Amino acid sequence: MGSASEHNGITLADVKDSFTLERYLEQANVFIGTIGAIQHNRQHSELVSFLAYDILSTLGFPTRLAELAAIAGYLHDIGNVVNRYGHGMSGAIIVFEELLDQGMDPEEVAIIVAAIGNHEEHAQGESVNPVAAAVILADKSDVHQSRVRKVEEAAFTPRDRVNYAAKEAALLVDPDQRSIRLRLHIDTRYCSVMEYFEIFLTKMLMCKRAAEFLHCHFELLINEVKLL
Ligand SMILES: [Fe+2]
Ligand SMILES: [Fe+2]
Repeated sequence: MGSASEHNGITLADVKDSFTLERYLEQANVFIGTIGAIQHNRQHSELVSFLAYDILSTLGFPTRLAELAAIAGYLHDIGNVVNRYGHGMSGAIIVFEELLDQGMDPEEVAIIVAAIGNHEEHAQGESVNPVAAAVILADKSDVHQSRVRKVEEAAFTPRDRVNYAAKEAALLVDPDQRSIRLRLHIDTRYCSVMEYFEIFLTKMLMCKRAAEFLHCHFELLINEVKLL
């Protein structure tokens, strides 16, 4: 194993060049598609990556830390290739091995695997570092009707219905006000504002804690109604 000086600054572009990681990401989305789970496609990976980077850079964190958030955001759902349940944990192990092989500094690998392993609310995910907080906020704000695969509304789960109702979602970071605002527009024919809040309560509380970890307050606006 090499010394710290031999480690290179792996970028998001290097990660995207990895044949292995790209295949796993692709297959993960195919596999969970067979059980009707919402889309976890390239668009989701790219959006979470971009938002996670944007949150940390806008709040003035070092550029390298924002780059690590971009990598963690891009890879956060890779564990779905193993199983939908516990995909944060399995994803962290896959990424851990691959990034070390690519020569990433173990301290940076640690930050990324902790973020991936802590992004799921069902697996007691917590904001254990700024990258983890950024990935949580970025991931939970990707709510959109284009993510729903099912065609038959009768087969919708509550999560499908909430996503199907979401026509627009925007995450706005204000470094001066130290606020992170999730602004959603939902079609109330499919889901009421209160239903959204009820169904996504755990996710939204996770976002609130993530924002607080970054010394910001979290605001949730649905159809211009302030819920948090
Ligand atoms: Fe996930
Ligand atoms: Fe995700």
